[in-house]
Amino acid sequence: MPATAIEQPGAGAVPRHVAVIMDGNGRWAEQRSLPRTAGHRSGTRSVRTIIEHSVRRGVEALTLFAFSSENWQRPADEVGILMQLFLEALDREVAELDANGVRLRFIGDRGRLAPALVERMLAAERRTAEKRKLDLVVALAYGGRWDLAQATRQLASLAAAGSLAPAAIDETMLAGRLTTAGRPEPDLFIRTGGDRRVSNFLLWDLAYTELWFTDTLWPDFDVAAYEAALQDFAGRQRRLGRTTAQVRGK
Ligand code: IPE
Ligand code: IPE
Ligand code: MG
Repeated sequence: MPATAIEQPGAGAVPRHVAVIMDGNGRWAEQRSLPRTAGHRSGTRSVRTIIEHSVRRGVEALTLFAFSSENWQRPADEVGILMQLFLEALDREVAELDANGVRLRFIGDRGRLAPALVERMLAAERRTAEKRKLDLVVALAYGGRWDLAQATRQLASLAAAGSLAPAAIDETMLAGRLTTAGRPEPDLFIRTGGDRRVSNFLLWDLAYTELWFTDTLWPDFDVAAYEAALQDFAGRQRRLGRTTAQVRGK
């Protein structure tokens, strides 16, 4: 959706869509002289907490960054354990997500993932497809640049085949080809772990998202920490390019 489609929430609003970079697992473990992978394991608890609280607070969509295009560059044993953890988490959590009305979907380059994992992802998507309480999107092997490139390829193919005039390509059409199409743009972005960057997450979609950074490491991110972000969001004024007077006069 183009930026103009974002609704002005007004004071006290709950974000419709929250997008989270779950960062700091490795440092959490290193502070405890544990292997980095212990931090990844511990981080899965925070995932549960944030999903449950999102449902409670009436957030409609939650996008979690679990593994980036660039994370493939990590040591092979860390990548291997992360992939194993994703598989285990799917096996363990899907029934409960389903029972709690959560629709689970994945975005990212599935071509780089093990077939057994892709199989489980598809099964989880099919199983929860009709659920409406929370739209949970897990970005796995995802990069914002990858998404823009694959959307561009689709439009270029149509143009090359003669079924799309290049002059007809606009923002709405491009957004419609992203893997994030079909849900509202994120209202609130949260990054844990202290770094203040986007790290190739939802590049297009974050154009007008409110940003929230916290030093809290992901395994320590709990309901209180999430609430701090939600409360801060509720007090913000989103002008979307307009003036304060225009926004107030609406
Ligand atoms: C985030 O935690 C999880 C992934 C990127 C998969 P990190 O593993 O990046 O933790 P830090 O940033 O090294 O502490
Ligand atoms: C971003 O964290 C990706 C995920 C949380 C999945 P990173 O730890 O990979 O980000 P950088 O490398 O510090 O920017
Ligand atoms: Mg990190």
